[in-house]
Amino acid sequence: MNKMKTLIKSNLVVMLMVVSFLLGCKGKAQKNQNVDKADQVTYSEEELYRPNFHFTPKKAWMNDPNGMFYKNGYYHLYFQHYPDGNTWGPMHWGHAISTDMVTWKEMPIAIYPDEKGYIFSGSAVVDVNNNSGFSKNGIEPIIAMFTYHDMEGEKAGKTNYQSQAIAYSLDEGQTFTKYSKNPVIKNPGIKDFRDPKMVWDSIHKKWLMVLAAGQKIMFYSSSNLKDWKLESDFGEGIGAHGGVWECPDFFPMVVKGTDEVKWVLLVSINPGGPNGGSATQYFVGDFDGNQFRIDNSFENDLNNSEHKSIWIDYGRDNYAGVTWSNIPDSNGRKLFMGWISNWEYANVVPTETWRSAMTVARQIELQKVNASYRLLFQPVRELTNYRSTKFKKESIAIKGDTKIIDSKAIDLSSTEINFKISNLKNSGFSFKLTNKQGDTLAFGYNHSNKNFFVDRRKSGKTAFSEKFSDPVSMANRISINPDFIGTIILDKTSIELFFDNGETVMTEIFFPNSPFDKLSIEPKDQEFILGNIEIHKLNFN
Ligand code: FRU
Repeated sequence: MNKMKTLIKSNLVVMLMVVSFLLGCKGKAQKNQNVDKADQVTYSEEELYRPNFHFTPKKAWMNDPNGMFYKNGYYHLYFQHYPDGNTWGPMHWGHAISTDMVTWKEMPIAIYPDEKGYIFSGSAVVDVNNNSGFSKNGIEPIIAMFTYHDMEGEKAGKTNYQSQAIAYSLDEGQTFTKYSKNPVIKNPGIKDFRDPKMVWDSIHKKWLMVLAAGQKIMFYSSSNLKDWKLESDFGEGIGAHGGVWECPDFFPMVVKGTDEVKWVLLVSINPGGPNGGSATQYFVGDFDGNQFRIDNSFENDLNNSEHKSIWIDYGRDNYAGVTWSNIPDSNGRKLFMGWISNWEYANVVPTETWRSAMTVARQIELQKVNASYRLLFQPVRELTNYRSTKFKKESIAIKGDTKIIDSKAIDLSSTEINFKISNLKNSGFSFKLTNKQGDTLAFGYNHSNKNFFVDRRKSGKTAFSEKFSDPVSMANRISINPDFIGTIILDKTSIELFFDNGETVMTEIFFPNSPFDKLSIEPKDQEFILGNIEIHKLNFN
């Protein structure tokens, strides 16, 4: 009888969650769910800067994405959250859900800090076979693993104040019960010991977990998600070490167009990014079930690269990003999201009631490039469902600064832009977004040093941090394709540039004094042909 009651109760909870989500959505073209109109009393500065479609918390502070998993039609996103302030503070796991990773509905906080500490970053998996034994009434438990950060321990000057703990949910990730025997991994005396990312290894048939530990990544395995065995570590003397290693992710990928499988390790690092502050590097190699070994050709690439590392994004605002778990094989995609900020200035960006957004969700592919491997990132295709008005131009000779469009034709603050430039020869190109106040965001390609760039030095409000605007961000071009193709995702306060099919990505935020309302392009050195440019207004109303 009791079992029956629990089953009915938990089904009811799920139904209520679905109904409340559906009520919040007016079909697919819903308004950004996290912007609750009732809360928007005035069109104040923070609303001026609130993105149109990137996820932001309704109120207060947010950093890393956490615990992302998919189940029963919903993509779940948790996030580092301090609900009582607009700067970093005691960490909780905030929660949001989406049916398409584009529009989000913020849910009640999922995990609260307690006497053992703040709830730092981590991951979540769906325990479909009840390996953990937490299932009740046939419900598949969701297991979250996070780092406890004991502030008292830190203040007392200890080194063992971070440990790993688990919690389980039997109501589709709405609420979690912390495991009574936490922590599941005690601290062996390593100061930075955090951000567990679990993955089901379908090749070696066991649960894996990667953990950032000082300047290394530690690999653990488990059969029940409670008892974890240390297998190996990776990272000494490899890659970038200009800052602390954080928020790893680890997963196998089939190399595009082949049946070869390689393992990919993502490692965020702060500071020490290619253009300053926070950034995420990656490694490609093999995993035998115990030990990750970097591929020789990829290691050569690292040794030949500027920072001894290859980055998922060369802009300054994509950090701590990880992938969704439990994506069905029928879907088969590797889906990623990052925090669209940088620890160098995240706490002081000019918004007040809320702080920080996430990147758009991105699909990752692994591609063979020469003898080595590269990740390709593209915005998820679901974003194209929001395309509305379209503007297209073809074969324009660009001799001087040439206006492409202004906001009378298309409001530039919610757009997807696809372009192709041919005949570049010995020139570069520079796109410019401007407004009436003369604020300018420039981005494009420098022929002289073969670098893509984003220049936000004059993009509006920049004085809140010296680190924000200087220097210009650069990314070395990998592709030797004579044509330059790119996709630009533009929101009110962020730009995401996917050059060469996502081989080189640059993500940056900006705070213009009024929204950018004109897009132009100019040659650097010689004229060229803008083969085509397509601008899609993205409509979320
Ligand atoms: C990365 C990070 C993590 C940590 C969390 C704390 O941005 O420093 O290593 O778990 O933020 O909020």
